[in-house]
Amino acid sequence: MSDYPIDMTVTPEVQAFFDEATNTISYVVKDPESTHCAIIDSVMDIDYAAGRIAYENADEIIAYVQEHGLTVDWLIETHVHADHLSAAPYIQQKLGGKIGIGEHITTVQETFGKVFNEGTEFQRDGSQFDALFSEGDTYEIGGMKAVALYTPGHTPACMTHVIGNAAFVGDTLFMPDGGSARADFPGGDAGVLYDSIMKVLALPDEMRLFMCHDYGPNGRDIQWETTVAEEKANNIHVGAGKTRADFIKFRTERDATLDMPKLIIPSLQVNMRAGEIPTDKDGKPMLKVPLNGL
Ligand SMILES: [Fe+2]
Repeated sequence: MSDYPIDMTVTPEVQAFFDEATNTISYVVKDPESTHCAIIDSVMDIDYAAGRIAYENADEIIAYVQEHGLTVDWLIETHVHADHLSAAPYIQQKLGGKIGIGEHITTVQETFGKVFNEGTEFQRDGSQFDALFSEGDTYEIGGMKAVALYTPGHTPACMTHVIGNAAFVGDTLFMPDGGSARADFPGGDAGVLYDSIMKVLALPDEMRLFMCHDYGPNGRDIQWETTVAEEKANNIHVGAGKTRADFIKFRTERDATLDMPKLIIPSLQVNMRAGEIPTDKDGKPMLKVPLNGL
């Protein structure tokens, strides 16, 4: 299907961590031949009403990594999340590893730098991250080769990370009965999202797909793993012969009915800084709420 250096004979060991507060799934992805791993989409806990943050989620991941004697090569963000805060810098401080995101983070930083009226000290060049991935870029996790696919639409900076026979799709797709994520954030686009989903579904049928979110539709238990073949056959938004035009119409109408994610205001301010918490002029950790700005 492509020139991507994908090796389906490599089966990384994937440990999932589910955050009940935000329905986010974080992953530790380990090289089966070594102790090296990557951590994908970690979560910092926040009680937004109280303005209080905590690291229970992140500490669970850190404990897992330490118990198994793993070396963290990478802390990957599939995109700038709008519904939870990243714990990447906290984990990096304890375990090392490089924080990486898609190169189009700069577009997200431009947009929300304006929304949050950030001053010139807020760099819009992605320099808060250790690595910026472009379409087709590869990187190593121990002996495994990982490849980043540019899959925008939900946001302009979304990437899907393919590691052996496992692909981490971020919010490009949900489980087959969950369909797809919204495409109405600034820089989002339903048609572009459809094209990105098709790019993911052009991966080999047996490719394991790991979701960033699951909401247990229709009361089923939370799930996060499926395959390309299952998504192609059964995805309620794009599977079984739905056209691009069908998808754009459905997605646009649905998105118009959705409320903003509860944590979008703190999430964007933190995540566009690679998970660092902004400070006020005296260096105190502080978040803003732009009125009628979103
Ligand atoms: Fe998202």
